[in-house]
Amino acid sequence: MSMLRYEKLAAELEGMIASGALRHGDRLPSVRRLSLERRLSISTVLQALRQLEERSLVEARPQSGYFVRPAGQARAEPRARTTPVSPVPVDVSQRLVRVLQAGMQPGVAPFAAALPAPSLLPLAALHRLYAGVARRHPKLLEGGSHVNMDEPALVRQLVRRSLAWGGPLAGEEIVVTNSCTEALSLCLRAVTQPGDTVAVESPAYYLMLQLLETLGLKALEIPTDPRTGISVEALDLATRHGGIAACLLVPNASNPLGSVMPDDSKRRLANLLASRNVAVIEDDIYGDLHFASQRPWPIKAFDTAGNVMLCSSFSKSLTPSLRIGFVAAGRYRAAIALQKTITSGATNPITQHVLAEYLASGSFERHLRGLRRCYESQVESMRAAVGRYFPAATRMAQPQGGFVLWVELPEEFDASRLHQRAVAENLAYVPGELFSASSMYRNCLRLNCGNPHTPEIDDAVRRLGALMEKP
Ligand SMILES: Cc1ncc(COP(=O)(O)O)c(C=O)c1O
Repeated sequence: MSMLRYEKLAAELEGMIASGALRHGDRLPSVRRLSLERRLSISTVLQALRQLEERSLVEARPQSGYFVRPAGQARAEPRARTTPVSPVPVDVSQRLVRVLQAGMQPGVAPFAAALPAPSLLPLAALHRLYAGVARRHPKLLEGGSHVNMDEPALVRQLVRRSLAWGGPLAGEEIVVTNSCTEALSLCLRAVTQPGDTVAVESPAYYLMLQLLETLGLKALEIPTDPRTGISVEALDLATRHGGIAACLLVPNASNPLGSVMPDDSKRRLANLLASRNVAVIEDDIYGDLHFASQRPWPIKAFDTAGNVMLCSSFSKSLTPSLRIGFVAAGRYRAAIALQKTITSGATNPITQHVLAEYLASGSFERHLRGLRRCYESQVESMRAAVGRYFPAATRMAQPQGGFVLWVELPEEFDASRLHQRAVAENLAYVPGELFSASSMYRNCLRLNCGNPHTPEIDDAVRRLGALMEKP
């Protein structure tokens, strides 16, 4: 198959990086120069640069152009694995609770739950807003409701922000929730019955597996590429003969791989699953925390059938304590609003107001720009530390957003067994098998990179690596 023009330019630039003609930190020729010299349109050049960015070879710096990224972390990446062809019941909750609790103990290195360091969050601004909203709107503390009441000012802000996501959401399809977890749970309740099968990524975010477990649903694990996300071809095969009620996934900066699905895969997935009557539940919590210059679009942007439910929250970008999330529910809106009313009634009105005012103030976009750079550099530092301290044949993902790092140890290691020794040394992480309904990934683990890479953090990674001197 002949290469498209942008692919050819991207391949040439990649060759120059591989040969050392362009080195870490070098500035690439400007877009205008490449366009003039190579007789290509500006958009073709930009497409080539974006492809290199997605592959983490170059980075865009505001007002300065494109630069070659550090090559030191060019460790091999994990490969997508073959998954069981049949759905299985899920049983991860008990083990997961123990792992997360162990990771929360005082003095334990914070590598388990995916939580941002408080120092990265705009807490002072939120404190001021809470005090201001409580003073200006005393009636918010009166009454309350068991019927879900979305705050129109917040819904307006959510719609406004979604303009950058490939088309605005409709205000009428939004249901405000207590967190992204609640949003995901409501979606599952709205479109499944106990005993149904749900297709998930492999590895899958453990909380999604937990939700399936508590709702009596089975998981069908679908092979997932550490760069490009869930395999649409495998989904095609899996859904050919019916029997799958929903597909639950994190297409943008997946947890734990950090993969981002290309637009074309998102479009194909949206069309395929709409035509097969399989509801799509997408978790876009990391969509704003991308490392490439442009925000990746959600699958929802390619949905013409109202079949995609987009869930998110501000837990990773503002603070997990807000517990405000939402779902843009498409044609499932009425069913989800009903589930919301039944399970938790209204969502805290004061916090909805606070969030609406924060988003309206314009501070969020500025905060996000800084936060993205922090997360990216923390992930890079963690990759470098794992490269220094873990066994030589260790593979690791190259996340394209978010702040977790998926690490694959050599085959002979058992990350669940090692976890007990790690806890005894005040170290923590989440063992890989908790990201699978069929106990795959025993030699893998996930590290939280939500904290600045201080000498203490580096030393904790070193001590973790020292535990791996023997399997
Ligand atoms: C993919 C994903 N979805 C949802 C959540 C939880 O979000 P919330 O705190 O809003 O429930 C997390 C937190 O780790 C996550 O990684």
